[in-house]
Amino acid sequence: MFKWGIMATGWIAERLADAINYVPDAELTAVASRGIEKAEAFGKRYGAKRCYGSYEELASDPDIDIIYIATPTSMHYENVKLCFEHGKNVLCEKSLTVTAPETAELIEIAREKKLFFMEAMWMKCFPTYRKAVELVKSGRIGEVKTIRVDISKAQHYDPNNRFFNKALGGGTLLDLGVYSVTFLTGFLGFDYKDLYARAYIGETGVDRDEIICFDYGNAYTSSVVGFDIEDDNRAIIVGTKGRIDVGPDFWYADSFKVYDEYGDFIEEVKIPHLCNGYEYEVMEAQECLSEGLLESKIIPLSNTLRIMEIMDEITAKFIKN
Ligand SMILES: NC(=O)c1ccc[n+]([C@@H]2O[C@H](COP(=O)([O-])OP(=O)(O)OC[C@H]3O[C@@H](n4cnc5c(N)ncnc54)[C@H](OP(=O)(O)O)[C@@H]3O)[C@@H](O)[C@H]2O)c1
Repeated sequence: MFKWGIMATGWIAERLADAINYVPDAELTAVASRGIEKAEAFGKRYGAKRCYGSYEELASDPDIDIIYIATPTSMHYENVKLCFEHGKNVLCEKSLTVTAPETAELIEIAREKKLFFMEAMWMKCFPTYRKAVELVKSGRIGEVKTIRVDISKAQHYDPNNRFFNKALGGGTLLDLGVYSVTFLTGFLGFDYKDLYARAYIGETGVDRDEIICFDYGNAYTSSVVGFDIEDDNRAIIVGTKGRIDVGPDFWYADSFKVYDEYGDFIEEVKIPHLCNGYEYEVMEAQECLSEGLLESKIIPLSNTLRIMEIMDEITAKFIKN
């Protein structure tokens, strides 16, 4: 049995609580909030055994195997550090931190202290995503020439919420663009020749809408990312012998379609989520812990760091332009 602690009680914490309660050998042992009332309400709703009114109390609970961090992105760095100080393994929400140097520092501490550390990039744990990567690697759609991976989710404007508030790590790149970058590098790797990025920066100073394109020399990608429109958010991988179409909402889709080089439909691959999709990252973390691994082979830390470095490169282009 793996004893989980959840840090924070917001939107994503609720989904993970459901997933932990679903996964065999997982126990929701404790939850922590900045206030005890919220922790107790959450604990009652999801059956947590212990409820804490501070993150420090959760981090120092000796009876916890792994802590899942569900705070706003700008808090991850200090929250992960707190857990590491108390010798806790960590599964932390995406984006892992606001900048790559912060991610690098956390990875160094995890390695030094021999603690398990994983970015909660749930998409990469889906059997469908892994199957699509396998199909492309096997040459099923020939040589990949282009990937379009758009992700726009309309958000009600509130300067104080985590989407628009810079101090909370707001902005579309950290919230949504990370999925585009993760998705396309999963197929084309990190050896791109150039990248183009432009953003509309809103009045709170965060990127609200943007376009990001990668030039791999013999392949190109494009991603429109934003908070101001609601797209159907497909990821389309086009090769010389066919294409794969993931979506709508590619980052949690449990199916994809394969077409041949003339656009004729070949097959649909569907592997329905067992719970709500978050169960796969919980299972992956537990598998790693039971094998004594300090990082996931599906989401290696070097991969997470490289993606954060690319995100920094993109942000620098937003500022420059
Ligand atoms: N993987 C996914 O599909 C997915 C989906 C959504 C979000 N996320 C990621 O998960 C993280 C949290 O997102 P969310 O949508 O759950 O956010 P949320 O609903 O706003 O919840 C964030 C929680 O963090 C805690 N918190 C600590 N310091 C805070 C502060 N200064 N201001 C506001 N809240 C603070 C609060 O919990 P307490 O008051 O209980 O301490 C709050 O409920 C983000 O990093 C986001 O990128 C991932």
